Amino acid sequence: MSSNLRTVFILFYLIGLNIIGVWSLKCRCDDFCKHTNDTCETDGYCFTSVQFKKNTNEVLYNYRCFHKEQFPDIVAGASKHGEYCNATKMDGDIYRVTACCQTGDFCNRDPLPLPEGATGATLSSLEIVACIAIPILIVCIIVLVVYFYRTGNQKKRGLHHHLRPGDDSIEAPDHPILSKGVSLKHMIEMTTSGSGSGLPLLVQRSIARQIQLIDIIGQGRFGEVWRGRWRGENVAVKIFSSREERSWFREAEIYQTVMLRHENILGFIAADNKDNGTWTQLWLITDYHEHGSLFDFLGRNTLDTGGMIRMALSIATGLAHLHMDIMGTQGKPAIAHRDLKSKNILVKSNRTCAIGDLGLAVRHDVTTDTVDIPLNNRVGTKRYMAPEVLDETMNVDQFDSFKRADVYALGLIFWEVARRCNVGGIYDEYQLPFYDAVPPDPTIEEMRRVVCYERQRPNIPNRWQSCEALHVISKLMKECWYHNATARLTALRIKKTLSNFRASEELKM
Ligand SMILES: Nc1ncnc2c1ncn2[C@@H]1O[C@H](COP(=O)(O)OP(=O)(O)OP(=O)(O)O)[C@@H](O)[C@H]1O
Ligand SMILES: *[C@@H]1O[C@H](CO)[C@@H](O)[C@H](O)[C@H]1NC(C)=O
Ligand SMILES: *[C@@H]1O[C@H](CO)[C@@H](O)[C@H](O)[C@H]1NC(C)=O
Ligand SMILES: *[C@@H]1O[C@H](CO)[C@@H](O)[C@H](O)[C@H]1NC(C)=O
Ligand SMILES: *[C@@H]1O[C@H](CO)[C@@H](O)[C@H](O)[C@H]1NC(C)=O
Ligand SMILES: *[C@@H]1O[C@H](CO)[C@@H](O)[C@H](O)[C@H]1NC(C)=O
Ligand SMILES: [Mg+2]
Repeated sequence: MSSNLRTVFILFYLIGLNIIGVWSLKCRCDDFCKHTNDTCETDGYCFTSVQFKKNTNEVLYNYRCFHKEQFPDIVAGASKHGEYCNATKMDGDIYRVTACCQTGDFCNRDPLPLPEGATGATLSSLEIVACIAIPILIVCIIVLVVYFYRTGNQKKRGLHHHLRPGDDSIEAPDHPILSKGVSLKHMIEMTTSGSGSGLPLLVQRSIARQIQLIDIIGQGRFGEVWRGRWRGENVAVKIFSSREERSWFREAEIYQTVMLRHENILGFIAADNKDNGTWTQLWLITDYHEHGSLFDFLGRNTLDTGGMIRMALSIATGLAHLHMDIMGTQGKPAIAHRDLKSKNILVKSNRTCAIGDLGLAVRHDVTTDTVDIPLNNRVGTKRYMAPEVLDETMNVDQFDSFKRADVYALGLIFWEVARRCNVGGIYDEYQLPFYDAVPPDPTIEEMRRVVCYERQRPNIPNRWQSCEALHVISKLMKECWYHNATARLTALRIKKTLSNFRASEELKM
């Protein structure tokens, strides 16, 4: 009896420990844990590896979490569990040593020693003196040369250093998750379950280098967008010119913000910079959506009321997720988009949307209650700029101001969508907001006259009042584009209103 009681007691104790997370192991983590203080948490092992590339003398260390749920995939992909976790392997001229541990937090803290014989061969006794002296000398010289070469290069190349020191000279190793037959979606799910911030950088690089560009699908301010293929899957590749390095870097950085992945945010796959000394190619690889942007889609298609509500709800849901500040280690900072427009939203195959083009986004730094980059005030697309952005009265010290400007743009996007809603065979042709008030490439002054002084807003046709869905959405858009920014709805409020409306419609059916 008493032993039964003790068992129950211990069980509750263990369950309790599990719930409060005492059992989760903290590990040292590189690359993709920048936003969590180089730390990840796992229910599995802490993982570390060292690789030595013989012909270049390059040593590469990796630290990360190896989650329990990854075990089956890894085992399937790389034969035995032990081969991933506890292996010394010579592959071509790459030595690879891996180790897993569970002995305590940060048990993978220390760099693994290189395997004996990795750095040189043993020789007979007479040559030992020479063998000790000469390699040391050579290594010293190489280290010095490499050191000076790199510091010189880093100054020249600035941002490149962030991606990976040594850049092009290191090719991606045979990372287990790259084994054949694993789809991109699956790979991303495997690696993002812990940090939510994306694939390891070297995996990103080797994916990028295996992509075949098929055709060009768009041209934006910052470069070209291509359709590419990776192992039979379509991907979108945005190629930035080297002048736009900052945009490329910023967009990749934002996409890799912890926990940003969401079904209504464009799925980020990889970023890569190729540099051959005189020429830099900057790639940003994302999910490909064959409908293209919302602008493209609305130009070619109309929607029924259900489709319109679903589409509007998906955009609001994406924006609400972007705007949300989630606290804690598994949280995300609030992000404001600053360039929201129909061209920067992609339409998925089931006609829900994903918000893309995060290159101008700003993140909320909670500790200082400021935005995370120095601002140049008026960025974005003039046609979609909120009145306070146009007349520069926005309070840029307050993060909420940026969210409110996004909501203004969301109102204009809803208007573009609503025009294409087909009720009883009646709908409007596709138009950009303010198509009837300003010329095709309006200046700030023209926009300011229309939006700030004349306080014009897109016209809401009478016919919208006689259809309930259109009535609801037109009410929402008006509450998005108030001149008084503080009076505007929040993205979360819009999401809830639309989702309630959809639920009530479903009840009627
Ligand atoms: N992931 C994607 N899947 C499918 N098509 C895409 C994707 N990303 C972009 N496109 C297409 O490429 C076009 C160009 O996109 P891009 O973001 O470079 O320029 P833009 O949005 O037109 O202008 P801006 O530079 O102001 O953002 C888009 O309008 C869209 O048609
Ligand atoms: C980050 O980690 C370092 C050492 O690992 C520690 O001293 C520091 O307090 C940590 N900072 C935060 C914000 O957790
Ligand atoms: C790792 O390998 C070594 C030697 O091959 C062995 O002694 C050790 O028990 C192994 N550890 C694990 C966790 O498999
Ligand atoms: C680098 O690549 C560009 C474009 O592919 C090419 O024109 C140039 O000659 C290359 N430079 C070197 C040094 O290989
Ligand atoms: C739309 O498709 C995505 C996957 O592409 C899926 O996650 C989502 O649930 C779908 N939404 C609806 C409303 O069917
Ligand atoms: C703006 O709206 C807020 C909230 O509705 C209100 O409190 C405030 O007085 C308004 N400001 C102006 C200048 O009208
Ligand atoms: Mg764009």
